[in-house]
Amino acid sequence: MASAPYTPSNPNNAGLPLWLLAELTYRCPLQCPYCSNPLDFATQGKELSTEQWVDVLQQARKMGAAQLGFSGGEPLARPDLSELIGEARQLGYYTNLITSGIGLTESKVERFKQAGLDHIQISFQASDETVNNALAGSRKAFANKLAMAKAVKAAGYPMVLNFVTHRHNIDNIDKIIELCIELEADFVELATCQFYGFAHLNRLGLLPTKAQLEKAEAVTNVYREKLQAAGNPCKLIFVTPDYYEERPKPCMNGWGNVFLTVTPDGTALPCHSARQLPIEFPNVKDHSLQEIWYDSFGFNHYRGDSWMQEPCRSCDEKDKDFGGCRCQAYMLTGDATAADPVCAKSDQHGKILAARAEAENADVTIDALTYRNEKTSKQCSDGQII
Ligand code: FES
Repeated sequence: MASAPYTPSNPNNAGLPLWLLAELTYRCPLQCPYCSNPLDFATQGKELSTEQWVDVLQQARKMGAAQLGFSGGEPLARPDLSELIGEARQLGYYTNLITSGIGLTESKVERFKQAGLDHIQISFQASDETVNNALAGSRKAFANKLAMAKAVKAAGYPMVLNFVTHRHNIDNIDKIIELCIELEADFVELATCQFYGFAHLNRLGLLPTKAQLEKAEAVTNVYREKLQAAGNPCKLIFVTPDYYEERPKPCMNGWGNVFLTVTPDGTALPCHSARQLPIEFPNVKDHSLQEIWYDSFGFNHYRGDSWMQEPCRSCDEKDKDFGGCRCQAYMLTGDATAADPVCAKSDQHGKILAARAEAENADVTIDALTYRNEKTSKQCSDGQII
């Protein structure tokens, strides 16, 4: 006898999964020490097949997903990327490729355009070729990125560049902005790294000092004025690390509220970092996305506010910041139901203050960082690197 069709119960009045992040692969030719992929990425299961990804895209679209990000790892490592872009276009998604540009060619840019890709974002490591390549772990990275940024623009896409900044490159923010202007960028994200995955492991060697940040923001503001005065439409977006905030970010706009991430092996997560939490998350190979989104333990766990402890529970800002980031709370306190220590009301805020103080005296060279690659990932998994 056929079983009854599944009807989602939605006990927590979950919103729609409007934003789908398809982490197609953890493979990547680069080895950025601030990669947000999980430390144990090399020990994760087999990647979903093309058919399985198509099924995920179809299910999510039916559930209301409108924006689709292809990321990784490096999504260009998937030979079926054009096919997936084409499928996404047919389904009516707005699609975004988040890439390092390594592995991109002019003919691929053209092919993706034909397939219906809406948007490409290329990330850089630095404005200086030597530092960029050292951080990326590739001697050809910088030249390739420059060429591909130009190819993307020539194909009629807005040029969207992302520079992850940290204590080793933030003092050169003027040179970074100059490079972006030279490349005729339309949008530039100057994003100080957020401390997840390998960035958290390398925090001491990456977190800028307060003085570095303030100077970088002031320089950015000067360039904003210059650009505006010159009628240059380039938009500079400066992202401060939440380690220098007194209130937490409304991470993911609330747990299981808008964002749905599917990892290379099909594990579905409410955010890209959640796999590290002591919770078992469902896999799209075993459950429909409807079941996962509305009824799984993992997605329901931090919805609403009944899971909150004090000071979040009685805080008049809880509807604004949702208690902050669950992953950060877990990484810093060992308790994912604690307030995000970024919040000055948290009794663990001292951990953030201590990290800021450490940054003042840190003396970690670029060479001493732990780079993200298969070897270090396996060492993280078996406890050789903690
Ligand atoms: Fe997971 Fe913030 S990154 S909840």
